[in-house]
Amino acid sequence: MAVYIATTSAPVNIACIKYWGKRDTKLILPTNSSLSVTLDQDHLRSTTTSRADPTFEKDRLWLNGIEEEIKSGGRMATCIAELKRLRKELVEDKDASAPALSTFAVHIASYNNFPTAAGLASSASGFAALTASLAALYKLPSTPTDLSLIARQGSGSACRSLLGGFVAWNVGTLESGADSLAVQVAPETHWPDIHALICVVSDTKKGTSSTSGMQRTVDTSPLLQHRIKHVVPQRMEDISAAILARDFDRFAEITMADSNQFHAVALDTSPPIFYMNDVSRSIIAVIEEYNRVAQLPENGGKRKAAYTYDAGPNAVIYAPSANIKEIISLIVRYFPQQETFKDPFGLFGTAGVGAGALVSGFNENVAKTWEAGAVKGLIHTRVGDGPRVLSPAESLLGDNGLPL
Ligand code: DP6
Repeated sequence: MAVYIATTSAPVNIACIKYWGKRDTKLILPTNSSLSVTLDQDHLRSTTTSRADPTFEKDRLWLNGIEEEIKSGGRMATCIAELKRLRKELVEDKDASAPALSTFAVHIASYNNFPTAAGLASSASGFAALTASLAALYKLPSTPTDLSLIARQGSGSACRSLLGGFVAWNVGTLESGADSLAVQVAPETHWPDIHALICVVSDTKKGTSSTSGMQRTVDTSPLLQHRIKHVVPQRMEDISAAILARDFDRFAEITMADSNQFHAVALDTSPPIFYMNDVSRSIIAVIEEYNRVAQLPENGGKRKAAYTYDAGPNAVIYAPSANIKEIISLIVRYFPQQETFKDPFGLFGTAGVGAGALVSGFNENVAKTWEAGAVKGLIHTRVGDGPRVLSPAESLLGDNGLPL
């Protein structure tokens, strides 16, 4: 008997222009456009295997080996139903010989190669991998942009993980959401020199989820209305131009300003939401000082790094690859590491990561030296490609249709 199965992986993305606010909570239509950098799946990824079989009794899902309920009417159920609908419309209705996979139940197993404890959002890569894997299983003729419409209904930011490189999610105007989709501004090959350093900040308290936090902002923040109307449209144009021109100084200026405005609208929410903590703010101080020195005429006059923060305390620092070693040394100086730095690009050789000497003119008092563990880990990665179809050897489901 034929076995219908597909495995794909999908990347994490981190926004430079933040999505924060929905105008339609069911279809997940945003209040503003956003733009992100897709990160390399060689380092961070979600992998998903989907299998359709006439003997399966119902749709089932396992996340990191643990079965999760697929709530009827929920986001997961919506994505699966939409992909089955496309299978029927685009494949089975057009070709009578195509197997009726849309009528079979599916088993889906998904695995993130980064620990949930790292505090990195896995919903974007997870829903992108789910969408890409069912699209591969169903042999859909859809483009990544077509598929972004479906991943969006799983989690807004997931729509941007369907493409590699630098990706915009257009706000759209249609009530149906048909024009609220992700498009590639530039592929990763256009500007492969963009690297990212993720600083995993230790945090014990449970934060406000993006979904509920952003709705409270929509309901109560006057500043959000100003952001939507008067700030984001121009920033989308400006950062797209900076990316096309490979102008890191401008890219950094806009990215940091937008992260700060996102956290300002969180603070403008009633009751206020605080995502950054004192460690996050210390990282901002260090990067601002690093840029101040870099911007002196004798040092080239341009910014060398950009920080950005999502709905949590972790920092993501974007920088041209040539600056990353200096930035890691700087971070390690203020935030001593307990864990060994993985060094995937071999920057430090056998000596391992160490705190570097401060660049001349750097005001070392911009932050205190934190106790070891305040930044509990560093992940070095870079811009990368969109979802990949993997070989059967990488399947997460065994011959019996259950997770391996
Ligand atoms: C701060 O995509 O997680 O990371 O659509 O409700 O699932 P839902 O929210 P989600 O929100 C992400 C918010 C953000 C900014 C961004 O990624 O653009």
